[in-house]
Amino acid sequence: MAISDSSSRILAGLLEARTGQQLTMSRRWRIETALSGLMRQRKIASIDELITLLVMNRDARLSDEVIEALLNNETYFFRDRAPFDMLQRELLPAVRNARLAERKLAIWSAGCSTGQEAYSIAMMIAEDPLAWAGWEIEIVGTDVSRTVTDRAREGIFTHFEVQRGLGIQQTIRWFEERGDQWAVVDQIRDMVRFEARNLFDAPPRPGQFDLILCRNVLLYFCNAKRRDAFDRMASALKPDGGLLLGAGETVIGQTERFAADRSMRGIYRLAGGRDADRRATGS
Ligand SMILES: C[S@@+](CC[C@H](N)C(=O)[O-])C[C@H]1O[C@@H](n2cnc3c(N)ncnc32)[C@H](O)[C@@H]1O
Repeated sequence: MAISDSSSRILAGLLEARTGQQLTMSRRWRIETALSGLMRQRKIASIDELITLLVMNRDARLSDEVIEALLNNETYFFRDRAPFDMLQRELLPAVRNARLAERKLAIWSAGCSTGQEAYSIAMMIAEDPLAWAGWEIEIVGTDVSRTVTDRAREGIFTHFEVQRGLGIQQTIRWFEERGDQWAVVDQIRDMVRFEARNLFDAPPRPGQFDLILCRNVLLYFCNAKRRDAFDRMASALKPDGGLLLGAGETVIGQTERFAADRSMRGIYRLAGGRDADRRATGS
């Protein structure tokens, strides 16, 4: 299935307009593989036919499905491990100390895919019951793709997905075997809420977070969209909150709203605190 330049430009334009994700020339090879399942299912014989349905017939459902198929949803439990070790050892204890009076903790996994990142945090907190007893904990996972947030909410993972990142003990403790799949136990599932939500829409409830994880999402945004996403996350972060990005992602040269925390590797803080945030949003 050969894809003409004009077809790949139309598909890339659709994806970028809806999600901010750029399908750069070097990533356009993905189009064919990414769309083959959808085209088979919809009995669409060629990319040209697909484009006609999208452009001429303005099939909104089909355009949602195309966008979802083009998104990269790669994720796994405790991805890259080191950031989770840092959260466990340094950031979560620090947030806990800072919030002892109110005993409330709010965490947002922005671009959560099928939920492994949010569930990893929930497991980490559940594994320290003494520290968090009596706390009101809200962990929210959002993603522009409804398919992945529906799957995340189900909390059912294949053997392969569970093996990626989880040891046997954690698997047995936090999952129930269901045939050849693993269902996350209610205790963990009940700690996490998932919503289909674009990063460029309003943030999810409660709107102000102690920690935002936005990992491996901003990588393919153009500079302007990335800056916009940082602005939105800055407004959704508590003045002393932390932002965690993916390996290889940084705020340096991308935004003035965040600065690296010198004592916690990989954590970004609001530059100039909330005052700078108010100045920037005019609120
Ligand atoms: C590569 S996955 C990363 C998942 C997880 N954060 C991790 O690091 O393992 C990127 C996710 O970002 C989502 N995404 C892309 N653009 C988005 C947008 N504008 N708003 C919300 N989610 C978006 C994709 O659907 C995808 O599930």
